[in-house]
Amino acid sequence: MTMEAKIKKEFEKRFGSEGTIYASSGRINLIGEHTDYNGGFVFPGAIDKCIMAEIKPNGTDKVRVFSIDIDEYVEFGLKEEDAPKQQWARYIFGVCREIIKRGGKVEGFDAVFAGNIPLGAGLSSSAALESCFAFALNDLFNDGKIEKFELARIGQSTEHNYCGVNCGIMDQFASVFGKKNNLMRLDCRSGEFEYFPFEPKGYQLVLVDSAVKHELVDSPYNKRRESCERVARRLGVETLRDATMEMLDAAKSDISEEDYMRARYVIGEKQRVLDVCDALVRGDYETVGERMYQTHEGLSKDYEVSCEELDFLNDVARECGVTGSRIMGGGFGGCTINLVKDELHDKFIETVKARFAEKYGHEPKIYDVVISDGARKC
Ligand code: GLA
Repeated sequence: MTMEAKIKKEFEKRFGSEGTIYASSGRINLIGEHTDYNGGFVFPGAIDKCIMAEIKPNGTDKVRVFSIDIDEYVEFGLKEEDAPKQQWARYIFGVCREIIKRGGKVEGFDAVFAGNIPLGAGLSSSAALESCFAFALNDLFNDGKIEKFELARIGQSTEHNYCGVNCGIMDQFASVFGKKNNLMRLDCRSGEFEYFPFEPKGYQLVLVDSAVKHELVDSPYNKRRESCERVARRLGVETLRDATMEMLDAAKSDISEEDYMRARYVIGEKQRVLDVCDALVRGDYETVGERMYQTHEGLSKDYEVSCEELDFLNDVARECGVTGSRIMGGGFGGCTINLVKDELHDKFIETVKARFAEKYGHEPKIYDVVISDGARKC
């Protein structure tokens, strides 16, 4: 049974009626990691894996939601004090609250949802969930009047205010704005973006999922962000977007070694995104790949968001002659994204599976990337 059919069956069974189906996608990011909250550039695209929900207003002030994948039913009201304790339901509650806080309308509704975005892989299943509901509630209760960019911000504020992650805008942006066969270069300071057709001839994007997730207790993501903000303040700029290596070096003696390394990575990454966009237009995949390896190096050594397993996957890619490879997303586990020549594809997958299994006792998961549409009514 397809995901849509499962959802419909469950909705009918639980609520005895039929709602409207919406979906929003997970994302990849070719380059530009940890730059979004620094006012820099990112270069993501939505993928063909999504969260899908059937939703129908129920005429009450209660939200009733069933998650097929978690096999759990939750009911909550729409006031601030009604926050559910289940993390997955907080994403939906947060979206409702953020719409209401902005003066939008949300009333009670029934929903059933499911997804096929691998969890913990760094493909932004949470942003897809937020974007799916933000898009749907805009359509169902607000005549689609909330701007698309605002829908992405609603998801981002949900992370900040209801989930404790001070994330940037990239994931929700990609999930909302994704377009088939296109990557998007977003300037996270101005909000301007441009679609870049992405149909590389002779190459494929492959995700290698280490299937490890290092849950670190002290919220390392927020700590990275704090480091960047500290350095920006010290340099007298609004965000590291406005900082140069010269400025950073001139202030080196006043900055901790750790903060210096974090900022060095971010400043370098800013230029790499622009280089990759230019190289793509020229069809120069060697340069794209080279920058991806440089990003990995920076994320691993300076930003310190990689881990042993991901560094190993990166080494294997290099040894196999893969054009570009790097850790993708927030870090501390998840996937590497790899730009692989067609003729190397099968051999690379076979090798990386075998070598990873030999070292860590389980095979990594492999996903071919298909760049697809973002938030939509189905
Ligand atoms: C997570 C965050 C994004 C972004 C990436 C790193 O996915 O949600 O906002 O900061 O990490 O690039």
